[in-house]
Amino acid sequence: MHELAELIRTNQPCVVLTGAGVSTESGIPDFRSATGIWKQYDPYEVASIDAFHRDPERVWEFYALRLDVLADAEPNRAHRALAELEARGLVQAVISQNVDRLHAAAGSRDVIEVHGSIGAADCLACGRHEASVRELLPFPRCADCGAILKPGVVMFGELLPTAAIDRATALAQTAGLLLVVGTSLEVWPVAGLPGETLDHGGKLAIVNRDPTPFDDRASFVAHGSAGEILAQCVSSMSSS
Ligand code: OAD
Repeated sequence: MHELAELIRTNQPCVVLTGAGVSTESGIPDFRSATGIWKQYDPYEVASIDAFHRDPERVWEFYALRLDVLADAEPNRAHRALAELEARGLVQAVISQNVDRLHAAAGSRDVIEVHGSIGAADCLACGRHEASVRELLPFPRCADCGAILKPGVVMFGELLPTAAIDRATALAQTAGLLLVVGTSLEVWPVAGLPGETLDHGGKLAIVNRDPTPFDDRASFVAHGSAGEILAQCVSSMSSS
């Protein structure tokens, strides 16, 4: 993975964009692979804002299951490699679509969570933010006004948190290299970030098991395990 290491070194600042594929090696399924969550569930039934208004109990049943899977999950080699690159001053920030907090658990300090966080919840009635929702399950209600809380993740049909997506866009535009890891790049507006980097003169590197729509515009593409490839990249830097 010497080529990727060189690209990172010579195209600073390097910004990372991750998706569910960075966490599959921690035992968390992704969404669109053969074993992905959306093969089992219809997102519009369990993860859309319309579903939340229609049937919040069903939505919370789904998120309670996901919280259970995440409760025991630990960061894997990919999260740790990205944290190591940040600690060495070679990664400026990690933009993540994941809601599992594993980048922070691995030691990444500058993480932009553009799809929110599954551990939190919000009251749509009075605006209260609940930082830790697990103990309020199975059917979390607002401690202030009693309304049913909404999961702290961005649901289909909702806008992304403005500050987060604005910062992510600015970082993508000023990146010398956008390192994309474990995302199908199918969900907008995040799927537009690689185009922002390229349009502003930056380069793209992609580490993903399956092909993505941006592979043919990338300076480096590796189809394989994010944990293996990123760990090799870091160790090739250590040995050179
Ligand atoms: P997807 O499931 O769409 O894509 C995950 C990608 O990671 C796939 O292309 C896999 O090939 C790849 N992958 C899986 N395991 C991998 C591994 N160990 N190493 C390398 N690559 C691996 O997930 P996202 O792109 O994150 O949104 O999905 C984007 C958004 O769609 C999610 O944030 C979620 C979902 O609906 C919301 O819930 C709002």
